[in-house]
Amino acid sequence: MLEHFDQLDPRERIIVALDCDRARALDLADTLSGEARWLKIGMTLFYALGPSIVNELKTAGFKIFLDLKFHDIPHQVHGAARSATQAGADMLTMHAVGGTKMMEEALAGAQEAASDFGCEAPVMLAITVLTSMDQKGLESTNVMLPVADQVRSLAKMAQNAGASGVVASPQEARMLRALLGPDAFIVTPGVRPAGAAVGDQSRMATPHDAIANGASHLVIGRPITQADDPLDAFRAVVSEVADASVDF
Ligand code: C5P
Repeated sequence: MLEHFDQLDPRERIIVALDCDRARALDLADTLSGEARWLKIGMTLFYALGPSIVNELKTAGFKIFLDLKFHDIPHQVHGAARSATQAGADMLTMHAVGGTKMMEEALAGAQEAASDFGCEAPVMLAITVLTSMDQKGLESTNVMLPVADQVRSLAKMAQNAGASGVVASPQEARMLRALLGPDAFIVTPGVRPAGAAVGDQSRMATPHDAIANGASHLVIGRPITQADDPLDAFRAVVSEVADASVDF
């Protein structure tokens, strides 16, 4: 199981989250160049700088996880995915609660841009229940299912709509791997190397445990970006991932 993810270079499985300004992002890109393969740009950086920051980091040789979490009417999401693909995104996110039609249109927009602009279609990931939502928060939106059931239901709906996988907490990874099968991307934030500062994360796992639970990729920000030596911190995660394998 998971052979093709296990066979990846461990550096391909680590996504460094750049939650910072442009100068710091470019500085980190320079430091990690030649080692890290993936950088994550979120809404804060993208809304400040637009597609140019994607272009700059692509030019520096990185693949880009553009985490904009689309959720709108299908027509608008089609256009958003098309524009983000044209900008150079290699991985995109959308909210599964937007529904099957919305997700299908996101995929169609991305594929359309890939063929129009001669690039690869990005990996399309679904967000199920935000990890900032607990049971009470979910119920306040009139969803009365247990969180885990809602996560399962949305993940399956996303897969049926054609999504490549999901963003999930390391705690959800095991059940999602069982549900979605060996080929699904399961991208987990909330990862902390042993001994790293916890920050504001509450449900965490070490890189080793996230991989053992079935994660395909890890999103790691501050333990790398705020380390005294980010390259050294990145390399430490690489060796932890290299030593880990899925344990079921
Ligand atoms: O610095 P840290 O490693 O906590 O960064 C994790 C990244 O993953 C941040 O960009 C954060 O927004 C994102 N994220 C998260 N938890 C989620 C979803 C996304 O921490 N449930």
